Amino acid sequence: MISEPLSKLLVAQVSSELGAHQTYLGISLYFERQSLHGWAKVFRDQSIEEAQHASKIMAFLLDNDVEFDLLGLAAATTHYKSATDAVGVALASEVKVTGQFNTMAGAAVEAGDHRGFQFLQWFIDEQVEEERTMGALLDLLASGVNLFQAQELLAGIIEE
Ligand SMILES: [Fe+2]
Ligand SMILES: [Fe+2]
Repeated sequence: MISEPLSKLLVAQVSSELGAHQTYLGISLYFERQSLHGWAKVFRDQSIEEAQHASKIMAFLLDNDVEFDLLGLAAATTHYKSATDAVGVALASEVKVTGQFNTMAGAAVEAGDHRGFQFLQWFIDEQVEEERTMGALLDLLASGVNLFQAQELLAGIIEE
């Protein structure tokens, strides 16, 4: 079993991760519409990762006999002012998620919930990588490189 406060936060986090899945899918479509297939793939792959994060949390909730329903998903735009605008939204989303996992880790510590605290570590590590990736993409855009040519550099930035 895991603590009640952390259970509630994890149930909310499932919809947050699925919300990120939608946001990234919207960003992928924004790039796809401009025939920027490389950029679109980066965000489609990221979108899939976010759905996997939601699955990982749901599996943990099931393993711990937490009863939950799936909450509603917010709509996601496919329209952005620029590539920098879109990637900036992605970075802001990652920073928000980092804060959510910090809050959950605090709740786990307060409740003496070692199992929950241990589970959160993977996500806390993952957030370091996700913030770094989005920050690096923003740096690439800030260099002024042509968006089509920039696609040749994306593989070197995205770490699996
Ligand atoms: Fe995530
Ligand atoms: Fe993420």
